[in-house]
This record gives sequence, C-alpha cells and structure tokens, in this order.
Amino acid sequence: QNQGDKIKVGFSQAMTTDDWRKQMNSSIKIEASLRPEVDLTIKDANNNANKQIEDIERFISNKVDVIIVSPIQSKPLTAVVEKSIKAGIPVLVVDRKIEGENYTAYLGADNIEIGRIGARYIISHSKGSGKIIEITGAAGSSPAYERALGFNQVINENKRFTIVKTIQGDWEKESVKAPLKAILQQNSDIEYIFAHNDRMALSAWETAKTLGLENKIKFIGVDALNSVNGGIELVKSGVLDGTILYPTGGNEALKLALKIYNKESVSKNNILNTIVIDDNNAEIIENQMDKVDQQQLVIESQQGAIKVQEKEYASQNNLVRLLSFF
Ligand code: FRU
Repeated sequence: QNQGDKIKVGFSQAMTTDDWRKQMNSSIKIEASLRPEVDLTIKDANNNANKQIEDIERFISNKVDVIIVSPIQSKPLTAVVEKSIKAGIPVLVVDRKIEGENYTAYLGADNIEIGRIGARYIISHSKGSGKIIEITGAAGSSPAYERALGFNQVINENKRFTIVKTIQGDWEKESVKAPLKAILQQNSDIEYIFAHNDRMALSAWETAKTLGLENKIKFIGVDALNSVNGGIELVKSGVLDGTILYPTGGNEALKLALKIYNKESVSKNNILNTIVIDDNNAEIIENQMDKVDQQQLVIESQQGAIKVQEKEYASQNNLVRLLSFF
C-alpha cells in the first residue's frame, strides 16, 4: 500500500506533559497500529493555543481525511475547527470542547456528571463540618467549567454543605500550593477537598501535610490512572479518599474517526463511562486495568515482531529479484 492511499488521521493533542495525555496517545497509537490502512499523525500543541491553531491549519492544508482534536481551551480553538468543517474535513472533538455546535462529533466522559458524582460522594460520606474546598482546572477549558458546574449544583442543593473557597487551579500541581496553604491556615476545620484532577488532589494533600492537616481532610480527585502516582495508587495508599474515572478514550477516538471517514452515522455526543473508585473497589479496578495493560504490551510486541518479519521478507525479496538476473 502506498502512503497516498492511506486514511490520513491528524490528531491535535493539547500537550503531552502528563501521564493522562501520554496514555491517551499510546492508546490511539495502538489502535492505529492495528489498522494498516490508517496513517496517524499526532501533533503536540505544548499547551499553547496558538500552536494548536497552527497544527490544525497544517492538517487542513495537508488535506488529512479526519481531524481529532483535544482543544486546550474552548474559545480560541472554535474558529479553526469551523474552518476545517468548511473545508470539508470532519472534526472529532475529544475530552475538551469548543464553543457552539460546529464540529462533527464529540467524545468524552460527561464532566458535569463527574462534578455531581464528586459532590454526591462527599454528601454521602461526610461525618464532619461539611466544609469543602474546590480546586478547579484551567480557566477556559471545558472540563474545568463543567466539573465546577455539576459540583456546585449538587452541593448548593444541600444546606449542611458549603464550598468555603474555590481555588482557580490550572490542572497542574504548582497552582495549588500557595493559595491552598493560605486558606488552610485560616480554616483548619475543612473536611473535604475536591480537586478537578488527581495531580492537583495530590498537591493538595502534600500542602496539607506541610501543615499537619493531611489526616483531618479527605481528598477527592478525577482521572484514576493506573500508574505511578496515579489516582488508583493514591487511593490504595490512603492519600485520596476517592477518584472519579476519566477515561482517555484514545482507542475509541480512532474507531469513531474511521466511522466518520466511512460516512457511517455517528451520534453527535459520544459519552464514555465513569465510576467512583475508593477503598471498596480500587483493588478490583486495578487488576482489570493491569490486564488491559498487559494485553496492550502483548499487542505492541506482536506488532514489533511483524515489522521485523516484514523487513526480512522485503530483503529476501530483493535478493530473489537480484538472483533472477543471473
Ligand atoms: C490531562 C488533564 C487531566 C484532566 C483533563 C481535562 O492533561 O489535565 O488531568 O482530567 O486534562 O481535560
């Protein structure tokens, strides 16, 4: 098969500094490697919206067949997605959203529901003050907005609970430390901290620890990665009380992109499942995730072996051709 015959899929990834995005990339790559007809290109925007716009412009001018994008922020990426749609290139938006409805389809977990699940978890487990701190993801990114929306909605319905302070985080650990320290010094009776991801929840725990408060507060995060310092491990080691699974959907994204390419009908909104992971199920979920990881490793090593054989076959073929001259 010649490169030109392949289905060109361009994936514009927001950044790849964290393990969640690394897992997303590896699962989309595995899915692509199982489909020889697919030519997948991943561009990393380094958390810079202008770079992400340029990356997508490049996909458009290279006439890829489908674009997948995880937009860093909603507003700045909206126009370039519309431009792609106008140019006749379908766009599958994953994880974070753009503004409006001018895209082909969306894939991701329901982030409003994730916020609500976090709130319900606190309400059903609380025995103390009912005082909560919320730490949000980056401003302008849709999961931060939606997780806050769902969380505040459910907490505000309940008189015994109050969100004492909301810290505007940026998804990363550093953004939590100074503001949280100042708040905890004033409010030593905080019972729960809900952070919009596990990295910030871990940072909150570390900050509380510097004040000797880590055992008085319960921490809840989002993502539930099965990795070193991932949510599952943090629940098992007692750092987090709970984490809400936010699947990366890498493999599903590629499958959906191909359906779109093949003009099959797809839903506009494709919702990935979520679940709360705490002491009760962390072990079971970890075992399941380990099995999936092992299978992925097997697939990868088989793919590697096939490549080696293909090379050998090609060089033998060359030899046969060469010998046929004599
Ligand atoms: C990874 C991440 C996750 C979070 C998601 C939201 O870059 O920060 O931790 O759940 O993005 O889009």
